[in-house]
Amino acid sequence: MKHELSRRILITGGSSGIGLEASKQLMQRGHQLLLLCRTEERCTETVKALSASETKQTTAKGIAINLKNLVEIENGCSRLLQINEPIDTLILNAGIQNVGIRSPQFTKQGIEETFCINHLAHQLILMRLLPLLQKSKRPRLVITSSEVHNPNSGGGRVGQPATLGALEGLRPHESIAMLNGQKIFDADKAYKDSKLCNILMGRHLANQLKQRGEEIPVLAWSPGLVIPKGSDGFFRTSRQQNPVGLALFSFVARDLLRLTETTQKAGSLLAELADEDSYEQSGFRYMSNQLIRPGHHLFKEAEPSDEGSNEQLAEKLWTLSKNLIDQKLRENLSI
Ligand SMILES: NC(=O)c1ccc[n+]([C@@H]2O[C@H](COP(=O)([O-])OP(=O)(O)OC[C@H]3O[C@@H](n4cnc5c(N)ncnc54)[C@H](OP(=O)(O)O)[C@@H]3O)[C@@H](O)[C@H]2O)c1
Repeated sequence: MKHELSRRILITGGSSGIGLEASKQLMQRGHQLLLLCRTEERCTETVKALSASETKQTTAKGIAINLKNLVEIENGCSRLLQINEPIDTLILNAGIQNVGIRSPQFTKQGIEETFCINHLAHQLILMRLLPLLQKSKRPRLVITSSEVHNPNSGGGRVGQPATLGALEGLRPHESIAMLNGQKIFDADKAYKDSKLCNILMGRHLANQLKQRGEEIPVLAWSPGLVIPKGSDGFFRTSRQQNPVGLALFSFVARDLLRLTETTQKAGSLLAELADEDSYEQSGFRYMSNQLIRPGHHLFKEAEPSDEGSNEQLAEKLWTLSKNLIDQKLRENLSI
């Protein structure tokens, strides 16, 4: 399929799994990559891992930003704004899930880790770097969500469903781990909720830009269940918490029932979303890589869940997230 050569692409979560695979493919297709990795060491390792995919025209550069730390994000974005180079595709892909952990992990700034890394960090990046994206001639935003955001999907039905309620957990000066304000922490629900936030964030941004007459393509997407072999990657926390259970789950889901997608294929879907002309349409779209039968997925446009389609909720989430970001930066930056 046709894609435009040499886009300048900024990606979070490009150091592992789906994001690393997409980055390799994007390099091979002639794009310039800027990778936001959690540490300098991760930047160096990732750039090295990508060097085999380099072509004469391509470069990969790393910038160390831990998405657990809003101050690091703010400072990193300020540096990028000073350099003032356009971003053609912004890929917000980094994510964690702490399934198996019973008590919430809080970041330095007192925010539940899953929510901070998966959603809040990305909203801050988006708020700060939007002017660079808008400097591009053909800007595009891609956000990695998950079908588990939808309580009616296969994965979304297992365990407590995603729901943000009235966002009581985001009231000012609260330190509640669950966004709907429930007192008992559930790491699996916290992950599902964060993936719902990804969709709502994309939806709200697209609406805002439309109202201002500045529409761009905003693509939220779900890769399907991807369980790579090996000890790192997306299921690392679950594996540490319950090695036998995770080994059994992986064997049944990946090898026996063939419910999973490969990292290579999920990476190539992300790469296509980032550069192919067929995704050039402005406005919000949600794409999902759905299992149609064992060993076969179909990647197509899909409807997000009811909450994922709720524009008032999207606006409320954006506003409360922005207020929380502003409050935490005020408290932690001496401004
Ligand atoms: N795997 C699945 O089944 C699945 C299904 C649906 C959706 N997704 C979504 O797909 C996306 C990519 O997941 P994956 O499967 O490729 O997982 P992965 O291999 O664990 O990759 C996650 C990426 O996020 C980065 N990251 C995590 N915490 C960070 C932090 N504090 N600061 C900076 N970067 C951080 C990781 O960096 P390090 O390399 O340094 O750890 C890594 O690059 C996620 O948004 C996930 O929610 C995955």
